[in-house]
Amino acid sequence: MANSLFRTKKIESILSQGSDDPHGGGGLKRVLTLRDLTFFGIAAILGAGSFSSLGGAVFHGGPGVVILFVITAIACAFTAFCYSEFASRIPVAGSAYTYAYASFGELFAWIIGWALIMEYSIGNIYVAYSWSDYFTSFLDKVNLHIPEYLSTSYMEAKHAVEGGSTNADELAAWSKAPVIGGLRIILDLPAIVINLLITYLVYRGVRESRNFSNVMVLLKLAVVALIILVGGYLVFSHGLTFNWTPANDTGVKSFMPNGFGGVMAAVSGVFFAYIGFDAVSVLAEESKNPQRDLPKGMILSLVVCTIIYILLTLVLTGAVNYRNFDGIGDPLAFIFEKENLNVGWMQFFVAIAAVIAMTSVLLVFQMGQPRIWMSMSRDGLLPPVFQKIHSKYKTPSFATIITGLVVGVPILFTDKTFVLDFTSIATLFAFVLVCGGVLLIPRREKEQGRFHIPYISGQFFFPLIVAGAMVTAQSLSRNYFSELFNFDFSGNDDYVKGKISFMDAATPNISLVIFWLSAVLLAILAFIKKYSLIPLMGLITCMYLLTGMTKSNWAWFLSWLLIGLIIYFLYGYKKSKLAVIEAARQESMTRF
Ligand code: ALA
Repeated sequence: MANSLFRTKKIESILSQGSDDPHGGGGLKRVLTLRDLTFFGIAAILGAGSFSSLGGAVFHGGPGVVILFVITAIACAFTAFCYSEFASRIPVAGSAYTYAYASFGELFAWIIGWALIMEYSIGNIYVAYSWSDYFTSFLDKVNLHIPEYLSTSYMEAKHAVEGGSTNADELAAWSKAPVIGGLRIILDLPAIVINLLITYLVYRGVRESRNFSNVMVLLKLAVVALIILVGGYLVFSHGLTFNWTPANDTGVKSFMPNGFGGVMAAVSGVFFAYIGFDAVSVLAEESKNPQRDLPKGMILSLVVCTIIYILLTLVLTGAVNYRNFDGIGDPLAFIFEKENLNVGWMQFFVAIAAVIAMTSVLLVFQMGQPRIWMSMSRDGLLPPVFQKIHSKYKTPSFATIITGLVVGVPILFTDKTFVLDFTSIATLFAFVLVCGGVLLIPRREKEQGRFHIPYISGQFFFPLIVAGAMVTAQSLSRNYFSELFNFDFSGNDDYVKGKISFMDAATPNISLVIFWLSAVLLAILAFIKKYSLIPLMGLITCMYLLTGMTKSNWAWFLSWLLIGLIIYFLYGYKKSKLAVIEAARQESMTRF
């Protein structure tokens, strides 16, 4: 059994199957330049993260969140190299699912495919919520008001009341909602409607523009540049720079008012802002010079977005005290509101641009999900109906409708924070497996025109880096390692007041202990096996970001994985194409 769980698909067989794969296959024209790839990367990256989750991120971490943007960018850059390596070896299917099938084997491939539902579908729930925030904000500007209880998710309103939030819209949603049979009718109607519209468009077959709409990217960049220029100018001219060192609860002024722990609490929001660069890898077969341009395109788009995120964070936290971003879903419009910088036309402009920009992100992800399911169905891990192509529209009709339901139904029961955390933890997990996968696949001869991850031996470098990180951590905080193993939380106010449970208080320690132990183990393996440094760095930095996840993130994610495993053993394990081939082979052997 163990062998069959780790049965791998041969790269040659994936390549031969890929000719009819919608992710791209043989015969595609190599037309994309470095500029196209970079634009595509920015198109996929810049969306709800910058327009929306940035608000929650700065609320947790204050201006110091810029540090987390840099750390996350570095993790993503290393991961981008790993995606490029896989994409150049397996250019037909371009998703982490296929990469895992070739390196770790079927069980891990299934787990990744399962986790990618989080990146694509659950991620889109977040984008739909954010779309709704900006859409209602835009309607307000033209004096059309949707009642709060029809533009807020039920859970968000409930949490606002229970948590003593000051967010007026969320509180109004709860207090003004009609009550039927004891149940408050609160739902995010615009988010549901945009999901229906997008599902319909994808079902009817909007042509996916591989080159993506450069106009859309230019529009996003122009609006973001305007926000930075106008906002930045007003921060300085109004003398608001004191907001960059705000006071925390104890009155201490700091760039990181809630310490580095507060900054790390923003991981989900910050990481979400970077999701999407991996999509560039699907263009391996269509780029003129993948060897040179693929990693460059990903890295350049990451650099551009990182600069934008740093500047936006500084403008946001300069314009308004970081505490005021509690529950704010449209932070880029919020800073221009009357009580803040008071620039009416900017609010209007930002809201329109955000609605357009996020519609494009919704489309990309809603089209991606059915394709991953199609690949999984082709491999026999999902029922054949997931491959069904509509006779007239030539789209994966069934898979598209299921995607619409997977995005649409949870809109009724979840809230932004929940889906954001869920998406980020699952995508980070997929990144960890992609980086680990690169370490496992055999090295190959250099081929002209193909991307090869530069091999720098991690034999000595990596153990040195791990040792250096340990020394730095210990020297920055004298009791760093002894505190990690200290599970006495009598000094933790939230724990003492009963606001958080023992496990909640202990999760950061447990995550970090596991992280450091893994780092030491990897350093030993790197030394023995002379692993390549870049995937090692991708692996370790993504693992570090995972330490920012809370206990409930882990609990939900692990439950999700468990459900996935049950489905795999009930269905995919037996129906897998590889299992069928193996069974036929054994049968023919017994016959002779
Ligand atoms: N990074 C993408 C966004 O922010 C998912 O919308």
